[in-house]
Amino acid sequence: MAKLRSVKGMNDLLPAEIGRWHRVERTFERMAERYGFAEVRTPILEPTELFVRSIGEVTDIVEKEMYTFEDKGGKSLTLRPEGTASCARAYLQHNVPNLEPVSKWYYLGPMYRRERPAKGRYRQFYQAGCEVYGDPGPHCDAEMIDMVVRFLEALGVRDVEVLINSLGSGDTRERYREALLAYLRPHAAKLSEDSQRRLERNPLRVLDSKAAQDQEIAADAPRLIDHLGEEDAAHFEELKATLDALGTPYQVDSSLVRGLDYYTRTLFEVRGRGGDLGAQNTLCGGGRYDGMIRDFGGPPVPAIGFAMGIERLLLSMEEAEGEAALDAFLVVQAPELRRDAVVLLRKLRDAGFRADADLRGKSMKSQFRRADKSGARWALVLGEQEKAAGEVRVKDLRGDFEGNVADGDELIAKLRG
Ligand code: HAM
Repeated sequence: MAKLRSVKGMNDLLPAEIGRWHRVERTFERMAERYGFAEVRTPILEPTELFVRSIGEVTDIVEKEMYTFEDKGGKSLTLRPEGTASCARAYLQHNVPNLEPVSKWYYLGPMYRRERPAKGRYRQFYQAGCEVYGDPGPHCDAEMIDMVVRFLEALGVRDVEVLINSLGSGDTRERYREALLAYLRPHAAKLSEDSQRRLERNPLRVLDSKAAQDQEIAADAPRLIDHLGEEDAAHFEELKATLDALGTPYQVDSSLVRGLDYYTRTLFEVRGRGGDLGAQNTLCGGGRYDGMIRDFGGPPVPAIGFAMGIERLLLSMEEAEGEAALDAFLVVQAPELRRDAVVLLRKLRDAGFRADADLRGKSMKSQFRRADKSGARWALVLGEQEKAAGEVRVKDLRGDFEGNVADGDELIAKLRG
């Protein structure tokens, strides 16, 4: 029988690696909460139509990358390729626009795209993202970009580039589309097959094509930023001025379009330059999508958001230490003391410590090896002498302290200190 293996491009995450993941996820949760965001969890499966209508029919994600299937009832379902459309659906479905003027949501979870697997590009990958509904202003955009940069700093990822652009809105987009088409049509025969097919329906997609011949033609295309209407231009200027006031470095990249159709006005990406990233160096992508809620049949609520790929964050963090899984490891001197050890462990756990022991009756040497390997700060030793004196021997594996401490409040205080 063939060996059973995970699906190509979908990885297991074993306990040995999870400490680094927890560090990223917890730092993200704390940061998002500090900025006033609350967590939302939506289903991993959604009706296919949700993504077709929002991400756009003529995009790589919808045309080539979605995991779509019919369930037993004949309904077309898709494993979510991203979180924005699901959040907007939930926001509307639960009538949130009528309950509060501004909503700030964050999420963490797996997404699915059938891309060609490579380092930093997987078919199941995790995103950490935020979405704000109800605030149209550029200050909200600047705060969001700054928050991403602060978050990366908190993880020790400093060597990044923040790129911003504006796609304008309404009229601007229409005028630009015409100008772009007028430029691209004479080059149509030289474009890639995908771009030729997409040209008339979605000329913007030609600009973020990965094909070399398309990129060459796109380099001289008219720039959207030169076609911005007055209000769009003022919005973009205020975004830049606010980033300046925050001291957040950025570069305007007029060629930035991103691969999803729902964007309006502000667009941004954060790219990493350090670590082990390689070609997949976009850590974070986001932007405004002021039309989505209305397009879904709701009121005209403006929105902006971003998502970061957690695997790519980890690659950019190099050898960053994860959180140790344990605070204390208890070494039991003799097998007869295991019952006392279980009682002591429960006391420690009740006091909030992550504590464990090897209760198989192995040698002290082998238990100490496990204590070292566990990453726990404290090694505790329970022996006959300690038991008789109502004490525990405490050894700080990261410091100098080693001595006997009374089992009880004194021990808890010592471990807290
Ligand atoms: P996106 O640019 O498609 O945007 O994805 C955001 C991030 O997810 C990327 O920058 C990358 O770090 C990560 N990512 C995407 N695809 C993969 C993959 N195959 N393997 C590993 N990581 C990947 C969105 O998804 C939008 N929903 C962002 C957004 C939120 N816009 C507004 N709100």
